[in-house]
Amino acid sequence: MRERRPQSVGRHGAVKALCLGLALAALVILLARSNASADSSGDGLILVAAATSAQETFNKQCGACHMAYPPEFLPARSWKAITGDLRHHFGEDASLDKATTKAIAEYLMANAADRAPGAPASLLRGIGPDEAPLRITDTPFWRSIHGNIPDSVFTRPEVKTKSNCLGCHIAN
Ligand code: HEC
Ligand code: HEC
Repeated sequence: MRERRPQSVGRHGAVKALCLGLALAALVILLARSNASADSSGDGLILVAAATSAQETFNKQCGACHMAYPPEFLPARSWKAITGDLRHHFGEDASLDKATTKAIAEYLMANAADRAPGAPASLLRGIGPDEAPLRITDTPFWRSIHGNIPDSVFTRPEVKTKSNCLGCHIAN
């Protein structure tokens, strides 16, 4: 069956969504910097270290097998569920120690679709309040954009799977 393509997903909103990960990453660092200069006691510097290291930890650990997916593509409850069972992660054991898992979970939840300031509402469209999709590729947002792409494109050797965003998209 062919998927319906809801008109409410504007191309503009979607483009914004893809750029969001980077925009937010820059914002976190900027905020941390301004705190550091405003706070002469030195606490600000600790904040800089904490803000960057959570993101770096996420990039390193969650980018080991696939790209580090931008947190804005799933609601906080999805990230909670994903980080809550890393031992059984899509057929792989992606488990990490407690402290690392906690830092990553907090980073992902703080920057999630329902928490990140300015995240387009379309990212959450069609996801019920009790639903916590474990895949970006299962969300109505993602499916509506990619619904017209034939399966044969996803199975090409350079793509292999829907989850391989960078098989088709360029990271910048
Ligand atoms: C040991 C390898 C490995 C590590 C480490 C890993 N993952 Fe995954 N992840 C996978 C596999 C395998 C899949 C399924 C890919 C597929 O279906 O093609 C996946 C899929 C996902 C998906 C769903 C992608 C989609 O289809 O929308 C998300 C979200 C995800 N991982 C998040 C994370 C997060 C967050 C971390 C870090 C805590 C992480 N992963 C670390 C192996 C890993
Ligand atoms: C088979 C190739 C392919 C894969 C894999 C793929 N995409 Fe796309 N994606 C496309 C194409 C083609 C479009 C443009 C669709 C259109 O405008 O009709 C697109 C559009 C988008 C858009 C809308 C903004 C834009 O750049 O046009 C977003 C956001 C997006 N994809 C995110 C993702 C994410 C996140 C993943 C991985 C979970 C992913 N895509 C995986 C092919 C792919």
